[in-house]
Amino acid sequence: MTLNIAVLVSGRGSNLQSIIDNIENGYIKDAAIRVVVSDKEDAYALERARNHGINAEFVDPSAFSDKDQYESRILEILDGYDVELLLLAGYMRLLGGGIVRHFKNRIINIHPALLPSFKGLHAQKQALEHGVKVAGCTVHFVDEDMDSGPIILQKCVPVLDDDTEDSLAERILREEHRIYPEAVKLYAEGRLDIKGRIVSIS
Ligand code: GRF
Repeated sequence: MTLNIAVLVSGRGSNLQSIIDNIENGYIKDAAIRVVVSDKEDAYALERARNHGINAEFVDPSAFSDKDQYESRILEILDGYDVELLLLAGYMRLLGGGIVRHFKNRIINIHPALLPSFKGLHAQKQALEHGVKVAGCTVHFVDEDMDSGPIILQKCVPVLDDDTEDSLAERILREEHRIYPEAVKLYAEGRLDIKGRIVSIS
């Protein structure tokens, strides 16, 4: 059985690309991205999806009277593709309870920091300003709070004395492109078990 995946995006989509590539090269097996949905019309991620023959839809949040209505439309799209696993890849909105409950333990996100440190926006800048000596990225299941669900994989990178926000973000991004596909592969193979906050990998 093929695992039906949907990806929510808002921007450039390099993490989306890493998942597409790792499905195409056979690292992630028995899985297909059925649809990519963006809240931004000009997200380059939509173009990346279309370049690979993947359905890509823009859903304009401002066309709905509130967040519930907007997310109901997204749910309708996802259900139309019989989606089992929902990936967030640079999606810049906090998901509402409706979607999180509907896809309980079936939504995964990537964050460019070693959670629970530096949640939210500009995580790499927060890390630099805090003076940490290691930074990194985290793949985690999504719950109703921001960047807070059970952790699947993390990877560290050093912070160098002359790092800028951009140089650190680039070093972290290279690891994001490794651990996100790895986490999706583990999910697709049924190897992730969640008890409370703890994810065990078999
Ligand atoms: C990544 O750094 C990801 O960790 C964060 O948003 C950024 C998205 O980049 N959630 P991209 O759109 O995948 O290139």
